[in-house]
Amino acid sequence: MSFSPPQDDGTVSITFQGKTATLPVLSGASGNSVVDIRSLTKELGLFTFDPGLGSTAACESKITFIDGEKGILLYRGYPIEQLAAKSSFAEVAYLLLYGELPSKEEHEDFKERLLNHSLLHEQIRNFFNGYRRDAHPMAMLCGTVGGLSAFYPEGIDISNEESRDLSAVRLIAKMPTLAAWAYKYSRGEPFVYPRADYSYSENFINMLFARADRPYKVNPILSNALDRILILHADHEQNASTSTVRLTGSTGSHPFACVAAGIAALWGPAHGGANEAVLQMLGKIGSKENIPDFIAKVKDKNSNVRLMGFGHRVYKNFDPRAKIMQQTCYEVLEELGIKHDPLLELAIELEKYALNDDYFVQRKLYPNVDFYSGIIFKAMGIPKSMFTAFFAVARTVGWVSQWKEAFNDPLRRIYRPRQLYTGHQRRDLNK
Ligand code: SDX
Repeated sequence: MSFSPPQDDGTVSITFQGKTATLPVLSGASGNSVVDIRSLTKELGLFTFDPGLGSTAACESKITFIDGEKGILLYRGYPIEQLAAKSSFAEVAYLLLYGELPSKEEHEDFKERLLNHSLLHEQIRNFFNGYRRDAHPMAMLCGTVGGLSAFYPEGIDISNEESRDLSAVRLIAKMPTLAAWAYKYSRGEPFVYPRADYSYSENFINMLFARADRPYKVNPILSNALDRILILHADHEQNASTSTVRLTGSTGSHPFACVAAGIAALWGPAHGGANEAVLQMLGKIGSKENIPDFIAKVKDKNSNVRLMGFGHRVYKNFDPRAKIMQQTCYEVLEELGIKHDPLLELAIELEKYALNDDYFVQRKLYPNVDFYSGIIFKAMGIPKSMFTAFFAVARTVGWVSQWKEAFNDPLRRIYRPRQLYTGHQRRDLNK
């Protein structure tokens, strides 16, 4: 896959202290054009200043497109709504990794490859034994995935596409096993192994809930719901954890270490940890009578309280994934025979209240992907501490797809931002 140079979209000029730099404006296939500022420092001695990088395109990519104003999300051009309704996670993983939907043979071959790499080296058990039983699953994932790089020393050879592809497939294949083993370890239950007769999501559920002492049948509604949730979480252009994986990859680090860095970034409540934080927030609110007081706290800047699962750096409209998650909520609860889920009812009341409150309307704060996911996971019997681990299993596909893509980018170079220095001038030690 070669990178076509972006189209020329005119120029912008910046004049500073009597000198003018004329900078090219580049446009891509869709979305915002970019000002190519690479010559700015040389021509005018200036850096740009963009804390949080909200106005900075750090790379060129062909994988995922988001239109935040319209609430549009495309994976390799396909709308997320269509993929969630008609595709499988394995098929979407292939699409994100290789750029096109697989043929029937390619799909079967890819599923076979994922199965062949879904086992963990038996010594990985020792990693888990080193953790306390109450260790957070994200701590266990972060440490174990990083440590797995020691089991695949050849993965450090990122110079060839075959080695990079093998590492990508290994990571996608092993994440459900790692996440399920972290859950089993926290419960003191024996580990369950992947089975060749199960799909990716069926294996994930089976490894979580099957037990040595009784037969366990995977509920197809739950495995289908999980498969859809994994699709929704698979990639999301240059979010914090994906940018972390790209940055770590830009130094030539081991791909497993790059994904461990992505897991660390995803863990935070401002990012993938929000799904766990939403459940904690709903628990604290307790009932819909308390919503007005809670929202008043959120609007009080001194409270440091945020409406978790709401707001997004890019979406200034509904996150399309949140709508599909809400729909999936109803389906899973119905299948599980849960007529009234107080948490879901509270979340819907909270969403309604916020969407009619000027504070949120003015700031274009809408529910994001994390607002409903925790409710589904809880209904499926998954503990809060595992919610972000599920997100990490799905996002591994996006992380390794974006990591791989960077190697084909002729503009690839080590990430090394600059700063606006406001510290001391040079001073001498008075000794
Ligand atoms: C994910 O980037 C991705 O694509 C991420 C993700 C992915 O798939 O990878 O989509 C997954 O991480 C979703 C986001 C999950 N996080 C949360 O739900 C946590 C709650 N949300 C916020 O903390 C916040 O909205 C962020 C972190 C998501 C976005 O932060 P920004 O873009 O830096 O927004 P901001 O902090 O500059 O907020 C702008 C204004 C501020 O008010 P003012 O200073 O203008 O008065 O909106 C307010 C903020 O205080 N605001 C909120 C709020 N989010 C923003 N106020 C209350 N509750 C919130 N949730």
